[in-house]
Amino acid sequence: MTSGTESLDSPNPYRSSFSSWEKRSSVRAKPRRTLEELEQGKVFFPPELVPVLYHPLVREQEQQVINSLLLQRLHVYLDFTEDLEQLVITPVTQLISRRRTGFELPPEMIRDSYKICTDEAWHAQFSDDLQCQVVSVTKEKPAVVGEPYFLSRLRAVKTELDPAVRPLADLFFTVVSETLISGILGGIPKDHRVCTAVRETIADHAEDEGRHHAFFSRFFEYAWPQLDRRHKELVGTLLPEFVVAFLKPDVDAMTAMLQHTCLDRESVLGVIEESYPTARINADMRAAAAATLRLFERNGVFESEKISDSFLRNGLLV
Ligand SMILES: [Fe+2]
Ligand SMILES: [Fe+2]
Repeated sequence: MTSGTESLDSPNPYRSSFSSWEKRSSVRAKPRRTLEELEQGKVFFPPELVPVLYHPLVREQEQQVINSLLLQRLHVYLDFTEDLEQLVITPVTQLISRRRTGFELPPEMIRDSYKICTDEAWHAQFSDDLQCQVVSVTKEKPAVVGEPYFLSRLRAVKTELDPAVRPLADLFFTVVSETLISGILGGIPKDHRVCTAVRETIADHAEDEGRHHAFFSRFFEYAWPQLDRRHKELVGTLLPEFVVAFLKPDVDAMTAMLQHTCLDRESVLGVIEESYPTARINADMRAAAAATLRLFERNGVFESEKISDSFLRNGLLV
């Protein structure tokens, strides 16, 4: 798999972002976030992050329905987070911590990967805890069941691969998801219209993810040069698929959410289609993936025509 290039003698040595982890990580330093009652005038999710709410057929719904859709969007986000952390990120960081990825990494990075395992398990746990509290206060259960789009897409991509290289898909999907900056983690911590417990939970998560972003950017810088040409091409053409899997609106989840309206199925599909024009989806994905795309550019990923073509085809390069 690897080209045999020794990349630990990087001119840019690894500098840990975790030196103050004991004092600053949410698992060590932040309290449990509690939701005991509904806060008057606060929302469960920012409406701007739920484009279907601006569709004329949804706008005319009663305020109670709109509030319910915002609540359901929060549940979709929390389920997404729990699946992402428990089923993809933590297994990958465990492999990194046990030096089972096939890549040579500095010892300090290995030690940091244990801290990420701990952080991510805590993120899943506090997301589930918040979800249980939200259900208890609102008496409304999550309407969306079943796995999120990113998980079914990742599995479909892996099914097409030789079993020997499937672990690389999980590893580089993790690099992608840990270096993207979503509107949720970036925006909600500052948004005081959002319920305090939700805002603070997401703020705790975002702060930890800042350190993870730095780690996984460096991980990519160490790992990518260690891939031989064949594996670079294989992984490189999968990278845009992973960006799309992570960022593309989850149509099944939106469809299930919109069952809270009295719209029939055909209208629901129309609302979703009109709320997410392709140009907007692609522009939003490029914005959220900007740091990740710069990371790939710096490391020469786009020098291969086959790889840059796959980014173009997926609407991530213009
Ligand atoms: Fe996380
Ligand atoms: Fe993370």
